[in-house]
Amino acid sequence: MLDLARRVLLSSSSSSVVVFFFFFSSALLCSVRASCPPRCECSEAAHTVKCVSKELRGVPTGIPGYTRNLFVTGNQIGRLGPESFRGLENVTNLSLSNNRISEVESHTFAGLRSLRSLDLSNNQLAVIHPEAFTVPNQTLRELNLSRALYNHSSVMDLATSLRWSSLGSLQGLDLSHNGLIYLPSHIFSHLSSLRRLQLSNNSLVAIHNATLSGLERLEELDLSLNALKTFPEEGLRELDSLPGAALLLGENPFTCTCGIEPFALWLNRSQERIRNVDSLVCSFPASMRNTSMLAVGTLTLGCHQRGAGADLALQTSYVFLGIVLGFIGLIFLFVLYLNRKGIKKRINDLRDACREVWEGYHYRFEIDSDPRLSQISTGADA
Ligand SMILES: *[C@@H]1O[C@H](CO)[C@@H](O)[C@H](O)[C@H]1NC(C)=O
Ligand SMILES: *[C@@H]1O[C@H](CO)[C@@H](O)[C@H](O)[C@H]1NC(C)=O
Ligand SMILES: *[C@@H]1O[C@H](CO)[C@@H](O)[C@H](O)[C@H]1NC(C)=O
Ligand SMILES: *[C@@H]1O[C@H](CO)[C@@H](O)[C@H](O)[C@H]1NC(C)=O
Ligand SMILES: *[C@@H]1O[C@H](CO)[C@@H](O)[C@H](O)[C@H]1NC(C)=O
Ligand SMILES: *[C@@H]1O[C@H](CO)[C@@H](O)[C@H](O)[C@H]1NC(C)=O
Ligand SMILES: *[C@@H]1O[C@H](CO)[C@@H](O)[C@H](O)[C@H]1NC(C)=O
Ligand SMILES: *[C@@H]1O[C@H](CO)[C@@H](O)[C@H](O)[C@H]1NC(C)=O
Ligand SMILES: *[C@@H]1O[C@H](CO)[C@@H](O)[C@H](O)[C@H]1NC(C)=O
Repeated sequence: MLDLARRVLLSSSSSSVVVFFFFFSSALLCSVRASCPPRCECSEAAHTVKCVSKELRGVPTGIPGYTRNLFVTGNQIGRLGPESFRGLENVTNLSLSNNRISEVESHTFAGLRSLRSLDLSNNQLAVIHPEAFTVPNQTLRELNLSRALYNHSSVMDLATSLRWSSLGSLQGLDLSHNGLIYLPSHIFSHLSSLRRLQLSNNSLVAIHNATLSGLERLEELDLSLNALKTFPEEGLRELDSLPGAALLLGENPFTCTCGIEPFALWLNRSQERIRNVDSLVCSFPASMRNTSMLAVGTLTLGCHQRGAGADLALQTSYVFLGIVLGFIGLIFLFVLYLNRKGIKKRINDLRDACREVWEGYHYRFEIDSDPRLSQISTGADA
């Protein structure tokens, strides 16, 4: 009887142990499965989670807390907000490239306390809220916005968020392939740590005053593949305000007419910091195509005979001539004033002489016009 009871107890306890193990292992399995969101691959050893090309419409929830490298690329994500990233304090590298992101709200990345590198390349950003890129403690070092803007109209939003997002530690900014036509002044002036700035393959036509202000630490500026025909003095002054920066200027439609001379001379002077300076060539006019920009300074473009310098000389000589003529006129008037009595007398004399001549003439005319008198005179003559 006792034996039976013990056996029942034993079996029940062993069954409860089995049941316990079943639940425990299934709970473990579940937790392992739950720790990696569906359609993602997680590697705890590499601290990496990848959710690549899975047609996701949002950032998945349940990404494990150990994640340092998070790739949610090639999906259909359209919008990002603060709710997109929760409990991801260890993420250092975040790539959201190749999505359809058109809007980024303020403080979207505020939960990512360790974020150093953010890749938003190949998106369609049209609405960027003022504090879109704010990360606590200014940890962000790299921001990739290559081919990320929907069109040039996004540049004003971008300028505002670069100013308001506390990016004082940012070292690299990639804005290549964005169709930018111009850069608002002071757009980079809050990026005081920036070292590398990529602006290649845009449609920039000029660098204006204060476009590059605040970039004292810049080490590399890439302006290749833009629409720059020349750099007027204003643009050269901007480039000179970045003395430590290597410059890439290739593949621009440089136009080698008179206006290019200051730029060509500046190039010759600044050769050391321009990458591949020998490969910079004129694109226009056709007769100058492929001519090295370094040779343009030594060529006579015919600017000095009829260029701006000659115009200035001509204007100066006109002004000088005017002054001399005015001076001579004044002296003439003064001499007239001094001689006013003599002149008056001479005028009176002249008038008297004229009157005499006139009266003499008049008299002869009267004689000539009176037939009788003329007959008398002719008769007398005869
Ligand atoms: C972040 O990493 C640290 C150290 O590896 C770890 O102690 C912490 O729990 C992690 N945070 C989360 C939310 O998992
Ligand atoms: C993370 O970003 C840094 C640059 O901030 C880079 O050097 C590193 O290779 C990146 N790691 C991964 C796994 O992408
Ligand atoms: C910012 O950094 C300080 C010290 O460097 C640290 O104590 C603080 O927790 C950090 N804040 C956040 C939000 O990470
Ligand atoms: C930014 O992303 C593009 C495309 O994803 C890549 O080709 C480029 O090298 C990246 N820029 C930087 C500075 O890493
Ligand atoms: C940019 O796209 C918007 C929306 O399609 C349009 O209204 C705007 O004119 C475009 N801007 C430029 C510079 O093309
Ligand atoms: C420049 O950007 C345009 C799109 O904006 C792209 O079609 C073209 O291939 C890019 N050129 C290079 C050399 O990357
Ligand atoms: C740029 O600055 C110079 C002097 O610093 C000034 O003469 C010029 O008018 C400015 N140009 C523009 C477009 O503001
Ligand atoms: C300019 O140089 C390129 C490559 O060096 C060459 O393909 C092209 O034919 C040249 N064009 C002219 C007009 O010389
Ligand atoms: C270019 O600079 C060199 C010295 O670095 C000078 O000898 C040469 O005359 C300059 N060429 C022109 C066109 O100024």
